[in-house]
Amino acid sequence: MSFDSSPEGKARRLIAESSRPVVFTGSGMSKESGIRTFRGDDGYWKQYRAEDLATPGALRRDPALVWEWYRDRLVAGEEVEPHSGYDALTHLQNVKGSMPVITQNVDGLHQKAGHHDVIELHGTLRTASCMDGCGKRVELSPEILKELPPACVCGSWLRPDVVLFGEPLPYEPYTRALTLAEACDIMLVIGTSMVVYPAAGIPYAAISTGARIIEINPKRTDFTGTPGVITLESAAGAVLPGLIGDL
Ligand code: OAD
Repeated sequence: MSFDSSPEGKARRLIAESSRPVVFTGSGMSKESGIRTFRGDDGYWKQYRAEDLATPGALRRDPALVWEWYRDRLVAGEEVEPHSGYDALTHLQNVKGSMPVITQNVDGLHQKAGHHDVIELHGTLRTASCMDGCGKRVELSPEILKELPPACVCGSWLRPDVVLFGEPLPYEPYTRALTLAEACDIMLVIGTSMVVYPAAGIPYAAISTGARIIEINPKRTDFTGTPGVITLESAAGAVLPGLIGDL
């Protein structure tokens, strides 16, 4: 197999030679499946204020409003399918045997694409738990969300098992993500603006221990140009199949 000296050729070579690859994704990974991003021109945060929908205060103040937003996202997510970029990652995971996927997304598309070892840094929309901590957890479905906010058996309300702004990341996924970042030899950073911390610190942890980074994003980010980072300014679904489909 030959590799040219273009950024894509270099990225292909690094991926081919890697023995400890890790993937790190944000909402742009799902854009071509029809999921909205947060900060683009048609992103959620252009239409809504995060403090109205994605904070613990908003959940206490107006749980029905917050739930309406998550219900819409859950329903939208049920209708979408992983695109060809997801399939390419499935192929790479099979070729490499092990390739943990660290994601900020709560859409479940990595799992739908058959990816295993998915580490969800910002939680999941698949389940909800008691808002007052009685310990009850339920699988989420549009049926459970017919009446908002959904009630918990203890008389309180349920909350989505996602991380809201101001809340800590779940301990085990976060510490495992950091450990994987520090041990990987390449990290594919796909579809994230790299502005939300602590998640955005994870690719930097990979760089700090010598990993090379392949950033895939049609727009440059503050991360673009960091030493050790090769950026492919392309959409995930457009570039991933050609990049890794035949490795
Ligand atoms: P953002 O909306 O901040 O960034 C999405 C990135 O995806 C942008 O840099 C886009 O240029 C890029 N993008 C768009 N289309 C793409 C495509 N087809 N292929 C590849 N990249 C594409 O979303 P995140 O970085 O995921 O947190 O945002 C991080 C966190 O902020 C989210 O997890 C969420 C949000 O508020 C919480 O809710 C806690």
